[in-house]
Amino acid sequence: RTKVLRVDPRDVDEQKLARAASVVKSGGLVVFPTETVYGLGADSRNPEALLGIFRAKGRPHDNPLIVHLTGVDMLSGVASEIPPVAEALIGRFWPGPLTLVLRASPSLPREVTAGLPTVAVRCPAHPVALKLIELSGTPIAAPSANLSGRPSPTRAEHVISDLWGLVDVIIDSGDTLYGVESTILDVTRDPPVLLRPGAVTVEDLENALGAEISVPEAARGLLKSDVALSPGMKYRHYAPQKPLVLVESDDYTEGSGYPGKVISIAKSLASGGRKVVVLASDDGADLYRSSGLETVKLGPRSNLFEVARSVFSTLRMLDEMDVDVAVVEGFEERGLGLTIMNRLRKASGHTVIHVR
Ligand code: TXA
Ligand code: MG
Repeated sequence: RTKVLRVDPRDVDEQKLARAASVVKSGGLVVFPTETVYGLGADSRNPEALLGIFRAKGRPHDNPLIVHLTGVDMLSGVASEIPPVAEALIGRFWPGPLTLVLRASPSLPREVTAGLPTVAVRCPAHPVALKLIELSGTPIAAPSANLSGRPSPTRAEHVISDLWGLVDVIIDSGDTLYGVESTILDVTRDPPVLLRPGAVTVEDLENALGAEISVPEAARGLLKSDVALSPGMKYRHYAPQKPLVLVESDDYTEGSGYPGKVISIAKSLASGGRKVVVLASDDGADLYRSSGLETVKLGPRSNLFEVARSVFSTLRMLDEMDVDVAVVEGFEERGLGLTIMNRLRKASGHTVIHVR
């Protein structure tokens, strides 16, 4: 049932996308690339098609979807009200990895909003995504194109391994740019509330607004469940199949002795013959390797863009590796560090060791 269409993002083949768009129009499921991760898309106005998204992913029905637009001109019919804060952020960040939660238009099917009075919308900065939405002639609802609970897909191979046979079309445009999902901001509240840190940082948002936003503990990935601000927060996320231990510290700087503490944790996990791998910043990797620990590099602490970009693909790779348990380094919660820590806390199932 599944067809793979290769589309070069630098030279978009409109003919192929027209085929994918006709699948969307007729109520099918089309996986498409965005600048963040791959999305599992369907016509946001077709309740039957939307149900197909939940079925394919095994997604709980109370977890609403993000509606993807070509621009603000598509907002009417999706959102009923655009507050001035939203206008400012749209002007600054769209197209781009910022999802805004707005009051929903009453005409939206309840499958999109899961019955909430609000809707999440974004305009992806990806030529293939934009062209697909345009040719489909409808806003496209799409969660990430992974099986529920698995790491989000940053390349078509990830989608194939999760959703083969469950979707109609997979558009393969290679690796996504950010490798981590959009930032979700609820602008129906004052101050706006961060629901999920993502590719746009809190610092960027606050600079653009000239005001602070609210960053609840749940957005940092600190809460295991309950008091869910965003319905998606209460579910286990991004989880590899192997146990993952996150080592957090108040100080990751050189001279803090942090890698030494990670080494002793990794070695104690290795006792009893368990195979351990350390997922580490480039900064610490050499030290771990010279201590005899198998190590996978995530990127340098000085370039968190690279770390964020490699997190999900590394978590997927972990499941293919011949190891029993993984230890992952923590990162300072500034800029993309907040996003990375949110994902790592969730991926570890909150198995966190705090060192000082
Ligand atoms: O980068 C992304 O955002 C990707 C690409 C495909 O656009 N999409 C994505 O969707 O990551 P996903 O799987 O995270 O699902 C949508 C998220 C869920 O966490 C859901 O709870 C939240 O958006 N969400 C959707 N509607 C909402 C609403 N009305 N209020 C609060 N949260 C909402
Ligand atoms: Mg998701």
